[in-house]
Amino acid sequence: MLSYSLVLFAVTCAALVSDGHPLKARQAAAVDDTFNIYAYGEGISGFPLFYADGKAQIGNAALSTAKVAQPVYFTISEASRNVWIAHPNTTGTNPDDAAFQTAALSLLGADSTDGTVELKQPTKELISSNEANIFDFYGDYVLTTTGNINFYAVRTDAEGVYSLIWSKAASEHIPVILRTIAPVTDGLF
Ligand SMILES: *[C@@H]1O[C@H](CO)[C@@H](O)[C@H](O)[C@H]1NC(C)=O
Repeated sequence: MLSYSLVLFAVTCAALVSDGHPLKARQAAAVDDTFNIYAYGEGISGFPLFYADGKAQIGNAALSTAKVAQPVYFTISEASRNVWIAHPNTTGTNPDDAAFQTAALSLLGADSTDGTVELKQPTKELISSNEANIFDFYGDYVLTTTGNINFYAVRTDAEGVYSLIWSKAASEHIPVILRTIAPVTDGLF
């Protein structure tokens, strides 16, 4: 569970982030905001979440062995605050080449005990289901509205690229925390 002091610590750290970061990055996103998701864990220092053949991977998209590895940013769905929509970040590439326009962040098989984190076509069924209508913020932490779901990173063939999975049970994989705040890179720690 996130304690108040942990959150206070996070807020303090966020306040130390250099001027380049917009204020909104320090707070829970509002409907009109765009945001990114970063994974933090042992050896995983704020790796961005990206689209990899319909699944979520974290790390450097350019190194992924997925057929389609696409950096993304997120917005909150107008349908529900708990549905998060990924959009291709086509900075530096041709937007027409993007493999998708929108994809809903979702937990495959949310009724079971574990599964992959996916980025799937946001059909009406999907975005009203407990696979997609489930994400929430606690400050800049990503949580789920159903408790006891934890996220884990699983190594892939590519160095520094991990698949993202979720589980309600303990897992032998690397526990990660998802946040909407980018890592501090200027050596404050
Ligand atoms: C898209 O990617 C570029 C380059 O990595 C980055 O500077 C920019 O902030 C990203 N845009 C969004 C909306 O995340």
